[in-house]
Amino acid sequence: MRVLGLETTCDETSAAIVELSPDGSRRILSNRIRSQIAEHARFGGVVPEIAARAHVEILDRMIDDALKEAGITMTNLDGIAAAAGPGLIGGVLVGLTTGKALALALGKPLMAVNHLEAHALTPRLIEDIGFPYLLLLVSGGHTQLVAVEDVGKYRRLGTTIDDAIGEAFDKVAKMLSLGFPGGPAVERAAEKGDASRFALPRPLLGKPEPNFSLSGLKTALRLAAEAVQPLTEQDCADLCASFQAAIVDCVVDRTRMGIRAFRQQMGSPTALVVAGGVGANRPIRLALQRVAMEAGLKCLVPPPALCTDNGAMIAWAGIERLRRGMTDPLDFAARPRWPLDEAAAKPGARA
Ligand code: KG4
Ligand code: ZN
Repeated sequence: MRVLGLETTCDETSAAIVELSPDGSRRILSNRIRSQIAEHARFGGVVPEIAARAHVEILDRMIDDALKEAGITMTNLDGIAAAAGPGLIGGVLVGLTTGKALALALGKPLMAVNHLEAHALTPRLIEDIGFPYLLLLVSGGHTQLVAVEDVGKYRRLGTTIDDAIGEAFDKVAKMLSLGFPGGPAVERAAEKGDASRFALPRPLLGKPEPNFSLSGLKTALRLAAEAVQPLTEQDCADLCASFQAAIVDCVVDRTRMGIRAFRQQMGSPTALVVAGGVGANRPIRLALQRVAMEAGLKCLVPPPALCTDNGAMIAWAGIERLRRGMTDPLDFAARPRWPLDEAAAKPGARA
């Protein structure tokens, strides 16, 4: 089974082909990714209209390149998977419409994939792990602890009550003029910094509900930065190191509570799985491995290139859906908002 995956929900354009063999082995035949960082950098964030135009300009060529690299033609595909949300609507429309056109022209099934579901299922592309597992989804737009019970079956155990962790990294980087995207820049700066120099808060630490809160930490960092103006490179590194250490402490504590909530509600998970761009952060990865070990769980963090947005994860989610007969009609509407656990996302719902 071979599926083409298209990702255009934010600022990465990607086309990839993933193959599932009858013996269950999985192979990424190609995973072409082009980041639009250069286009957005001078604005300090992603500009939706620029993103949509940039996707249009290169997606067709990129699909060709992905097919060539995989050594196959369109007729060798068994289905087309396109991210149909959540994300910036202009970009989502580019990938989804392209996917629909290909599916229609080729007479192949379409899988309209939830981008978050693709992050959630990526660990199964690289390792044999069964359901249910605990997912820590940490990206630019989301910070959630989710019980992954099956393909299409998700229970949100906790979420951020304000900013996402990736967003907090991006804002801190902007505040300190470190550039965009912020996560990798803050991580790099932190390597040379003293994490004990600034005493920053650890919001929600010790609270039993596995939720996150970042805004107080971000404000505390801003106040600390303002108190030492003008900032030297070392001040900046110390601020980044102190910020990252606070995030690590929060992630550790919140994930421990997430494991506890999972066990209370549905027994033991098969693994702790980390997904989303922030999963590329080394200190966070290492801390989560420790949390999993002490809980007696396997910890799975996809390699950084599969943590950040990519087409292979969309193709793989497409395969997971196609093999279960979960295909979508060609009039499937793009969804700028599309929670994994729809029940939990309703106003007044549980955590
Ligand atoms: O999953 P992703 O590629 O895009 C979506 O948000 O869907 O995640 C991007 C986020 C950005 O906020 C970026 O700053 C953050 O992931 N990120 C990192 C690192 N690499 C990317 N955050 C911390 N450390 C990193 N090394
Ligand atoms: Zn993402």
